[in-house]
This record gives sequence, C-alpha cells and structure tokens, in this order.
Amino acid sequence: MSSQRILLGVNIDHVATVRQARYKDSPRECGQFVEPDPITLALLCEKAGADGITVHPREDARHIQRSDVCRLRETIQTRLNMEMAATDEMLDFALEVRPETICVVPESREEVTTEGGLEVAGQFERVERIVREAAQAGIESSLFIDPDREQIEASAKAGAKFVELHTGAYANAYYTSDRAAEFARLTQGAEMANEAGLVVNAGHGINYVNASEVIEIPYLYELNIGHSIVSRALFFGIDEAVREMKAKLAGV
Ligand code: PXP
Repeated sequence: MSSQRILLGVNIDHVATVRQARYKDSPRECGQFVEPDPITLALLCEKAGADGITVHPREDARHIQRSDVCRLRETIQTRLNMEMAATDEMLDFALEVRPETICVVPESREEVTTEGGLEVAGQFERVERIVREAAQAGIESSLFIDPDREQIEASAKAGAKFVELHTGAYANAYYTSDRAAEFARLTQGAEMANEAGLVVNAGHGINYVNASEVIEIPYLYELNIGHSIVSRALFFGIDEAVREMKAKLAGV
C-alpha cells in the first residue's frame, strides 16, 4: 500500500441528479421546498472527513446547476474541485467561481456519465490555454486522462499540476480476466505521470470493493469518488459512507 495518506474528494453530482428528477422546473430561488440539497450533503461529507468536494456542472445542466457551484464556493471549508468541459464558456465560469482546482474532462451530451479520458494531445493548444488562464487566476488544473503515455506527456507539457487517471476501464474489468491488465496500465500510468512531474489523482467507478486494490496504485494523491458513496449513503447515511471510504483509503 502507498505510504502516503490518500485524500478523498467526494463527487456529489448524483445528489443533484435525485433533486433534478423531481424539481427540475422548480428552482430553489422561488422559495419552494426542494430536496435533496447537494450543498447540505457537501457539508456533511466535510464533517465526516472528506478532503474536498467535486462537482461537474455539465453543459446540459442535468444535475449540478451553476447556482449550486456558487453556493458551494461560499459554503464549503475544504477544497472545491470543478470538473469542466474544455470550452471557453466553462473556463469563464471557472474564472468567476474560482474553485481551488478545475479538472478538465471530455463531455458529450449522449453519455450518461464521463466515459473516456480527455484527448489532451489532440487539442493541445486549447487545453494548454485553459491551464494557463486558470493558473493566472490562481486555479490549479487537473486533466482527466486515460493512463496512456501520449496523454500523460501532453498533460505535463500543457502545464497541468495534476492528472486524474481514468479508472473506469479497470472498474468495468474488475470481475473479468482483463482486470490485471487494466490495473497494470494504471500502475504504469501513475509511474509515468510521477516521472513527468505530475501529481497523480484517480477516479471513476471506484467503490467499496475495488478501492482496496486501487490504493495499491503508486503515487496516488487523491481519489475522486461519487456514485458509490452516494449509493451507500442511501442505506447507511452519508457520515458512515464517507468514514468507511476514508478507512478504505487508509488501508483499514
Ligand atoms: N472523476 C471524474 C473526472 C468524473 O467525471 C467522475 C464522474 O463521472 C468521477 C471521478 C466519479 O466517478 P464515480 O461517480 O463513478 O465515482
């Protein structure tokens, strides 16, 4: 296991998914009772030991709304990590809100959640400009990439401080014969990223089962976990869900 303490960023998008399922057309602003409130959940995550809160205001605003991000910015006491598409519109919003970090992700309307990693090498100038403009505003950048050499090298060249290695393929392969190969890809990716001077985060599809193996990936700084924690909170409450995941990350 990694000797360094691995931080936990809790992605609260799916709390907003539940809210939108009922109250999509009843914005809070009109005074109507609206539940569940993702900001309240974020505060409870912090109280239970989360090291940061992650949200992804998507172009189609299907779950987290921009107003949620602004409220989080004013409320949480840990760190705000805003996932965003590589667009000028989202960059402008990030510059306005000033999260501690942005994590640039690929985004298409069709996907249910983020699917593949960001193509950094193929849109280098755009990504490099986002990283530069964010840095000028004091915002650190992370790039959500597959653990491939080309993307890792491009991420370092673009000036990003972090990469978030996409663990989705590994999570999908967990119960198949491809699991070892996917785990090896992540391990090699983490080694390459560390070698390139990048801080290594990881996320997507991490749960209470695979976390015990995920923490064996070298050089991990932070894991961003959403669906599994929000799901467990339905049965056991968010406090226990966060504490249990923190214990997993500590190898307990
Ligand atoms: N990291 C990134 C970049 C994501 O886009 C997501 C959610 O899509 C996550 C982490 C969290 O994934 P999950 O909800 O599967 O834990």
